[in-house]
Amino acid sequence: MERDVIIALDFKNKADTLAFLDKFTDEKPFVKIGMELFYGEGPDIVREIKNRGHKIFLDLKLHDIPMTVKKAMKNLAVLGVDMTNVHASGTIEMMKYALEGLEEGAKEAGRERAKLIAVTQLTSTSEERMQKEILINASINDTIVKYAENTKAAGLDGVVCSPLEAAMVKDACGKEFLTVTPGIRYPGAGVQDQVRVTSPADARAIGTDFIVVGRPITAQEDPVAAYHRVCADFLG
Ligand code: C5P
Repeated sequence: MERDVIIALDFKNKADTLAFLDKFTDEKPFVKIGMELFYGEGPDIVREIKNRGHKIFLDLKLHDIPMTVKKAMKNLAVLGVDMTNVHASGTIEMMKYALEGLEEGAKEAGRERAKLIAVTQLTSTSEERMQKEILINASINDTIVKYAENTKAAGLDGVVCSPLEAAMVKDACGKEFLTVTPGIRYPGAGVQDQVRVTSPADARAIGTDFIVVGRPITAQEDPVAAYHRVCADFLG
């Protein structure tokens, strides 16, 4: 899969989402559907956006016992998404089962298997909370690298991480191991709730494979122009 810009469709319902996508008349951007839209509208929203010709990253971050995750992944595979994810903290075994479910579902549907990536540590988790509440007695960076190595050992394609962690992950797991990075902002623009942010050009220099961009595109007066600017800066 080629490096690309993924637009986070963080809209409250189908009507707002489709109205946004209707603005793109000349191209079909790669988009991310998260829990809010999926739980509100159900799997039909995935089918509808897929039928419109978009590639889809279904960001549901599965984390459960291995067999449950496997069966859930099998169902997601039938939807024909291009990328989906689990939590690496679910263990190597859970990730292996997730991959098996995705492979089986894709085979039965006669489709290509979606890329499967894992969340290492959420960017909302601070090192202090991880140590005090989850009792992980290591640095957050060591945890992220270890979780990325576990993800690779399970046979998955890559991880979600902040752009600043992408270089570390590539060093540990190799250039081919995908990094998908949110937290993209232009210097001078508001960061909202993001903390560790990187510009599209810096994300490109770091060598991340996919950037996930929400408000710097969706909240702009001309989102199509904003998307083109991000693509030019990230893809060159
Ligand atoms: O609007 P913004 O560009 O901040 O959107 C980033 C998207 O990436 C949101 O959908 C957010 O949920 C998602 N994300 C994130 N940080 C993570 C994982 C996902 O910002 N660690």
